[in-house]
Amino acid sequence: MNGTILIVDDDDDTAVLLRDSLRKRGFDVDAVNSAQQCLEHLRTDPVDVVVTDVQMAGMSGIELCQELRQRHPDLLPLVLTGQGGLETAIAAIRAGAYDFITKPVKVDALAIAVGRALEHLSLKREVKRLRSAADRDIPIDGIAGNSPVIRETVEMIRRVADSDATVLITGESGTGKELVARALHNLSPRRDQPFVAVNCAAMPAPLLESELFGHVRGAFTDAKRSRAGLFVQAGAGTIFLDEIGEMPIEMQVKLLRVLQERRVRPVGGDEEVPFEARVVTATNRDLETEVDEKRFREDLFYRINVVAIPVPPLRARAGDILMLAQYFLKRIAGRTNKPVQGISGPAARMLMDYDWPGNVRELENCMERAVALCRLDEVTVDDLPAKVQEHQSSKIVITTESPGELITLDEMERRYVRQVLHAVGGNKTHAARILGIDRRSLYRRLEEPRHDQRVAESHALTSRPPSSVASSSPGAPANGFSGSSSSTGSGSSTGSSSNVHPASNPVSGAGASTNHAGEAEPI
Ligand SMILES: Nc1ncnc2c1ncn2[C@@H]1O[C@H](COP(=O)(O)OP(=O)(O)OP(=O)(O)O)[C@@H](O)[C@H]1O
Ligand SMILES: [Mg+2]
Repeated sequence: MNGTILIVDDDDDTAVLLRDSLRKRGFDVDAVNSAQQCLEHLRTDPVDVVVTDVQMAGMSGIELCQELRQRHPDLLPLVLTGQGGLETAIAAIRAGAYDFITKPVKVDALAIAVGRALEHLSLKREVKRLRSAADRDIPIDGIAGNSPVIRETVEMIRRVADSDATVLITGESGTGKELVARALHNLSPRRDQPFVAVNCAAMPAPLLESELFGHVRGAFTDAKRSRAGLFVQAGAGTIFLDEIGEMPIEMQVKLLRVLQERRVRPVGGDEEVPFEARVVTATNRDLETEVDEKRFREDLFYRINVVAIPVPPLRARAGDILMLAQYFLKRIAGRTNKPVQGISGPAARMLMDYDWPGNVRELENCMERAVALCRLDEVTVDDLPAKVQEHQSSKIVITTESPGELITLDEMERRYVRQVLHAVGGNKTHAARILGIDRRSLYRRLEEPRHDQRVAESHALTSRPPSSVASSSPGAPANGFSGSSSSTGSGSSTGSSSNVHPASNPVSGAGASTNHAGEAEPI
């Protein structure tokens, strides 16, 4: 390994001599004359091995080793000890030196020691690299799914797990926000410390304040003794503020101060107490809209939204439905000792077609029930809840057979934007993200065209009466188009229709096979 070496010696002649001799042996070497200069140098130039004298004015070589262990743990220090300096050598090793060389220095011995240190360093780095590659391949505990959107979420969790930045997890109810918060904690260096979850919607403001920040004795009638709040109880772990969008506005002001100062003031107390926990928050509300409508403080929103992790609704990751269903089935069957192995084709089709307003939690409950009812070795249609069995797919289908049904690209865009908005439960921020546009463009695209524009559009399509455009009035259902199975007239699954729903391919990445008539093979 070709590493960089820094010589630290307050005797300039020795420093230059050692530098030049090592350079002659092919090493990349610099020299400085004090421990301070060494620390300065390291601020801008990375170094692999520091070779330092012990007796130096100001900071000694031993003290320098201690500093290096703290500030640059990836670097290896070597110490030059004086005659008979066994005690010094021991002190140096205790202070973090990798090796020592006795003076007068023989350049060959120094070169061998430096070579050995570099080899050690190279091995250390390789082990670290392999370990982190292995970490990356392990699926995040408990988060099943392989769709691009969930993989993006998982990638984000890995990227920010190590940092201390405040995180805002957003997503509809049942999408897995708490699972994401726990995964963030479990992948972080704080994993051995407490994970404390608080539901901010469950308590009135005064109770929430004393839960979060603690109280002193006598702060209120029942306060017989003082109690540390959850911010402090979380120690150097993670405090998870769930449903933060429901936090009473008077608590929002207090929380903002706490996050800015990183100190809490217990109820009834005069003194503030510092806390170390990382703050992770979650909400199923669209906080930007809440801010626009003055229900959530803008300053607090920016404070908690340092890193945003959106968790997509299940219908936006149709490719995961069967995988999750199979995952829950295996888990539940194992727990309850039932010999259920899979899901029948028609049942799989129904699971795919349903739009899961309750997201993963609803699917999990559905599988729990299905396994309980199941009398064969696979879950069949009869084991599914009535609402899943009866659900009519509302995917967008445009037939190309009737000219009267044809629409302009603008109209198509409007309808698609509405469909995406519907798919994400009306969350405009999320919809804009999926569409790759900003929120203002989203609003613009949702606007109905003015009358003169509509006429122009209808002229552009000579074969289409204007009434078919007008049929998509603002009051029309969000999915705009006729249901695939109801009004296409010609049979929705024949080649004449084109499905523009983002999740239109029911088996993409799901690990199941489905033929065109919609009869999936068992999985
Ligand atoms: N990707 C996933 N893999 C496996 N299980 C999941 C996944 N996502 C969610 N779940 C399961 O679904 C259930 C709901 O998840 P969770 O409680 O994290 O959702 P949530 O977004 O916090 O919901 P709410 O907003 O209602 O509090 C849990 O039992 C969780 O284990
Ligand atoms: Mg939750």
